[in-house]
Amino acid sequence: MDIGILKESDSRDKRVAVTPKVVSKIFKLGYNVLVEEGLGSDASFYDNEYADAGAIISDTNKVWSCDIVLKINKPNLDEVNKLSKNQTLLSFFTPSIHSELLKKCAKDNVNVLSMDSVPRISRAQKMDALSSMANIAGSRAVIEAAHAFGRFFGGQITAAGKIAPANVLIIGAGVAGLSAIGTATSLGAIVRAFDTRPEVKEQVESLGGEFLTVNLDEDGSSSDGYARVMSKEFIEAEMSLFKNQCKDVDIIITTALIPGKEAPKLITKEMVSLMKPGSVIVDLASQQGGNCELCKPDEVFEYNGIKIIGYTDLPSRLPSQSSELYANNLYHILDELTPNNDGVIDINMEDDVIRGMTIIKNGEITYPPPKIQVSATPKKKDTKPELTKPVQEKKHSYIPGLIAISSLFLVGAFAPESFMNHFTVFVLSCFIGYMVIWNVTASLHTPLMSVTNAVSSIIIIGALTQISSTDLLSLIFSGLAIFIASINIFGGFAVTKRMLGMFKK
Ligand code: NAI
Repeated sequence: MDIGILKESDSRDKRVAVTPKVVSKIFKLGYNVLVEEGLGSDASFYDNEYADAGAIISDTNKVWSCDIVLKINKPNLDEVNKLSKNQTLLSFFTPSIHSELLKKCAKDNVNVLSMDSVPRISRAQKMDALSSMANIAGSRAVIEAAHAFGRFFGGQITAAGKIAPANVLIIGAGVAGLSAIGTATSLGAIVRAFDTRPEVKEQVESLGGEFLTVNLDEDGSSSDGYARVMSKEFIEAEMSLFKNQCKDVDIIITTALIPGKEAPKLITKEMVSLMKPGSVIVDLASQQGGNCELCKPDEVFEYNGIKIIGYTDLPSRLPSQSSELYANNLYHILDELTPNNDGVIDINMEDDVIRGMTIIKNGEITYPPPKIQVSATPKKKDTKPELTKPVQEKKHSYIPGLIAISSLFLVGAFAPESFMNHFTVFVLSCFIGYMVIWNVTASLHTPLMSVTNAVSSIIIIGALTQISSTDLLSLIFSGLAIFIASINIFGGFAVTKRMLGMFKK
């Protein structure tokens, strides 16, 4: 079969569905590849590279006559008219929103596989182009914010003065949000994030962000790997949290969305006016109405000196990277569709991933697919009591105890009385010292420091009881003990202070 790769009809989109590298991989699946002339020039992939990889450079009509056509964005009406008998189209589609377009495509035995309908299951991660693009969008959103923000992201101490780091708030810690957290922390900003799914807390923290919470016990996780709509009370509680944050943060990146639904309005005009002039909001949900009341899709809107960026083409602003990831996702889907590597497509509706993304099969609409359980939320623990193994009684060995008692008996029987007095005091001090030190609460910077300080303190107390002695040797030793233990205590604090200073921005 022939696979045709089309240029995007929207000239603003610089991405390309397949890169030269992936063309050579598609050949191995048994297909011929036809590429539209000048296909990847905006993403720095040139015709000669496609030709070297084995593709045939053709005109638009020839590419449209292929059995399978690959592109990125949903087809426009002109392209729908070009879809002909038995052809298969793979592109983004968002069938939940574009139901009219879906009906128009359902004709002439045509098959349509929607790249944004890949179910969020582990096996399908390599085919999930939506996540690939969201990853790029999250990272690029931070770069756009940094570009529009008139200051550094990272803190600095320079001869000209101290520069405070930027405070960044990320709303929604899904794929785009996590990517934004990673990029913002790597630029040196202080990042905090909020999400309706408490399960993402650890992921936020592992990327160096602080996870914010509200005082309401409601979980936004659902069984399809996306979030669910939250109650009115929850939205109000999170908005009051954001209102307080607006006074403090310099950058807000919002990614909060539930697929197929309008984006919740989480940042109002009033909240924007609480932000410092020069602050920036990047609204990734702009395509679905935006999370910020003032967001205008594809525009940078300025209000009270605050820039609200509503770009909907963030992945296309990194065209080479986006094309590479999209092409890899497409290749993995084609691999799944070609089980025998014979260049013949097999749309196997028994396969969860293929079923999920097939929205039209043989001219018939097959959307929506049956629901499958894809949540990453850990299942509730089985309440059945565990089968317990019979506990084996621990065997105690009395031998060391017996040896210790007999040694004490021998010492008591033969040692001089003066030695026994000292020995008793020594054993009791060891016991008391042990109990005191190991019961110290580790409230200092590290447990080790708490324990060593406790040891040093006991040494100082002991030395203080001896320092008034008339015996010169006792005087020298107790003075020495106080001196060394003090070095340990004060030196420990000084070193810890310096270490903490290294982490302060
Ligand atoms: P995702 O589903 O992985 O993440 C969305 C996150 O928002 C989820 O973690 C969800 O729990 C959270 N969320 C939902 N409602 C919330 C609420 N009320 N408060 C706080 N958090 C809430 O989605 P993904 O893939 O990260 O995409 C995020 C957004 O980025 C989407 O709106 C997507 O359309 C957009 N996007 C924008 C692009 C652009 O160029 N502007 C490009 C690619 C994606």
